[in-house]
Order: sequence, then C-alpha cells, then structure tokens
Amino acid sequence: MRRNLSRVAMVTGLFLGSVASVWAVNPAGYGQAGGEYDITIPRVPAGELAKAKKVKPPFEPTPDVLAEGKQIFLGMGGCVSCHGPEGKGNGSAATILPIQPRNFTNPKFHRLRTPGELMWVLKNGSMGQSGRVPGTGMLPVVQPKGFITEEQGWKALLYELSLGKKK
Ligand code: HEC
Repeated sequence: MRRNLSRVAMVTGLFLGSVASVWAVNPAGYGQAGGEYDITIPRVPAGELAKAKKVKPPFEPTPDVLAEGKQIFLGMGGCVSCHGPEGKGNGSAATILPIQPRNFTNPKFHRLRTPGELMWVLKNGSMGQSGRVPGTGMLPVVQPKGFITEEQGWKALLYELSLGKKK
C-alpha cells in the first residue's frame, strides 16, 4: 500500500513537473479558468480523426475489467489526482491546471467521443495537436510516450466511461 502511494506521488509529480514546463512556454490563463475547454472540439488532429474514431476497445467492460480499470485509475495511472475520485474532473491537482480535466460523468461528453478517439489522447495527450485547443495538463499516459501499457489504458478508459453511465 505504502509502495503504491509513493508511486502515485511520483507519477503526479512527473505530471505536474511537465505541466509547469508547458506553462513556461504558454503563460497561464490561455484556457478557461475553472472550466473544461469546449468539449465539442475534437482533440485529435483532423488528418487522424477518422482513423482514430474507428479504433475499438479490445475487450468488453466486464465487472472484472472495470475493477482492474478502477485500480489503475486510483493507483498506478494517477488519473484520480486530476480527474477526481468520481471522475468529475475535480481531483486535488486540478485546481492548479489551466484547463479543467474531463468530467467523465457528463452525458454530453459520451455522445461527442468514440473510445478510439480517447485512446488516441491516452497515447498522445491533449497537447493542442488539433490546433483548435490549447495544450492541457493531459499528457500522454500510454506507452511509448506514457508509462502504462495500452491494455492498462483501455481498462482505465472503460472504467472512466462507466462512470458516466451510472445513476
Ligand atoms: C495532470 C492531470 C491529469 C492526469 C494525471 C490525467 N489527466 Fe486526463 N485529462 C486532464 C485534462 C486537463 C484533460 C482535459 C484535456 C482537454 O480538455 O483537452 C484530460 C482529459 C482526459 C480525457 C478526455 C480526452 C478527450 O478527448 O476529451 C481522457 C479520456 C483522460 N483524460 C483520461 C485519463 C486517464 C486514463 C488518466 C490516467 C492514466 C488521466 N487522464 C490522467 C488531466 C489529467
């Protein structure tokens, strides 16, 4: 447990360190303080969007997969520190980000994105690649640019998507 916690602290530190360096290039205040940046704009660049949209999760969101995804979300993935324990985009680190992390419980969000587009973001981050959204604190999390495997990424993602379907 203690090892897990220090791992989370390390991962969060890595993220925040990189966010600080992004700030060095783009002064704070370019986003919408205290809010998500317009979610109707795709984060995937136009040239890659059609291909990314078609990518499907390699497995179904069974209870086992969701349980593993939750562990990754809360543990080694470090997602919780920004996205919050319930995925509402209100994690403890969110307050210092220029753009609010995605609120996975927003039903509108689920209509706007396919899982494949979201996997593209897990692999590449949301760093302003489309040219229509500024770079954000969402850095690449899936290898090779990130630190978790693609399979772990899918599990965390399916868990996040399940948060919007409850209630
Ligand atoms: C340092 C803070 C931070 C951490 C840690 C973080 N995220 Fe994010 N995430 C963000 C922000 C900020 C956004 C909003 C990006 C935007 O508006 O383009 C975001 C957006 C997303 C999106 C939505 C992308 C889209 O196209 O709308 C997904 C999916 C996501 N994160 C998954 C994850 C997963 C899975 C993890 C853990 C492995 C994680 N995030 C960890 C900050 C973070």
